[in-house]
Amino acid sequence: MAAIEIKKDIYWVGVVDWNIHDFHGYSKSPQGTTYNAYLVIDDKVTLFDSVPAKFQMELYHQIRSVIELDKIDYIVCNHIEPDHSGAMPFLMDKIRPEKVFCSKLGHRMLLDHYHQPEWPYHPVQTGDSISLGKRTVQFLETRMVHWPDSMFSYILEDKLLISNDGFGQNIASSERFDDEVDLAMLMAESSHYYHNIILPFSQRVTAVLDEVAKLGLEIDMIAPDHGIIWRSNVPLILEAYRDYAAQKPNKKAIIVFDTMWHSTEKMAKAIAEGLMEEGVATRIMHLKQYHHSDVIGAMADATGIICGSPTHNNGIMPLMADFLTYMKGLKPVGRVGAAFASFGWSGESLNILTEWLKSAKIEVVEPGVKCKNVPDHDKLAECKELGRQVGKAIVAKVNAEA
Ligand code: FEO
Repeated sequence: MAAIEIKKDIYWVGVVDWNIHDFHGYSKSPQGTTYNAYLVIDDKVTLFDSVPAKFQMELYHQIRSVIELDKIDYIVCNHIEPDHSGAMPFLMDKIRPEKVFCSKLGHRMLLDHYHQPEWPYHPVQTGDSISLGKRTVQFLETRMVHWPDSMFSYILEDKLLISNDGFGQNIASSERFDDEVDLAMLMAESSHYYHNIILPFSQRVTAVLDEVAKLGLEIDMIAPDHGIIWRSNVPLILEAYRDYAAQKPNKKAIIVFDTMWHSTEKMAKAIAEGLMEEGVATRIMHLKQYHHSDVIGAMADATGIICGSPTHNNGIMPLMADFLTYMKGLKPVGRVGAAFASFGWSGESLNILTEWLKSAKIEVVEPGVKCKNVPDHDKLAECKELGRQVGKAIVAKVNAEA
């Protein structure tokens, strides 16, 4: 789709990846995504970020619809991950820019990725600024939001924050701005993106938001490198990021399970009844129907996480192992959990699940429930009671922070 002027002489020259559903190999992106790059026409013509290598020709045509590539003076590489730097070798060859700005860690990582020591690197750090002529660009390192090299670029005169991965969403669309799309959908995709990509770095997010406030940056547009540009809801997304990072308790729970012959599924439904009796909004998710990233998306504002698996070959079901590995890596905080399990003969899965939850620093309500073969009325009542106990723990946590 064509380049779009987002502010006077500042153009979106990105690429829409309409059909990608696998984002970076670990998260689903059912609405596709975009790789946003921005071109500023000033005395020093500057390109902010690029696109994956396979889209380099689309980027080329986008830029050429505004200006010839050899007119570009500077490239700013806010983040080295290949979805934003993959076209760099191609661009460097075509543009031969005077300077390439990146963070110090970005410099090292560009060298590691592209092995081109002769590129005209100019590493910058927080507080550094450059003049493009009529405009000033200020840099703000955002280490671990979400890679060590990540940084934001702020264009002072335009009150424009180019935020790289921060504030992004995986949405492929013909619309470019937040006031052109459904806001509820946009916020849902922002949350899904944050919780699957940025959640482990929530403390850093809070620190970056504090730093932005301390610097007194006036922001009237946030232009991320994925998805929709924020111009009418800037305070809303800034506040949403504070909320995501805070991970405050909510009366919500997710029951996630896998099953062979549906005993574990029956247990899940009984546990849900107990949770609901305690006033906890509950969702049951079968891992054969939901990808791990969708469970994490649903877990975003849920304080309860209850996991169930039958014993399979003395262990847990493969999809549950996948989910637990993924969830633990995302380091959710302030969660309450429990385990439940069915088995035929050896029955190890309850202990395995319980230990996994503890290792993910989830406050486990014990004991969980273990069922030999098919749950009868009494066993289902035990499951319901487990749901009540987890529900009470969630409500206590919410009340404690109220
Ligand atoms: Fe969109 Fe960290 O790359």
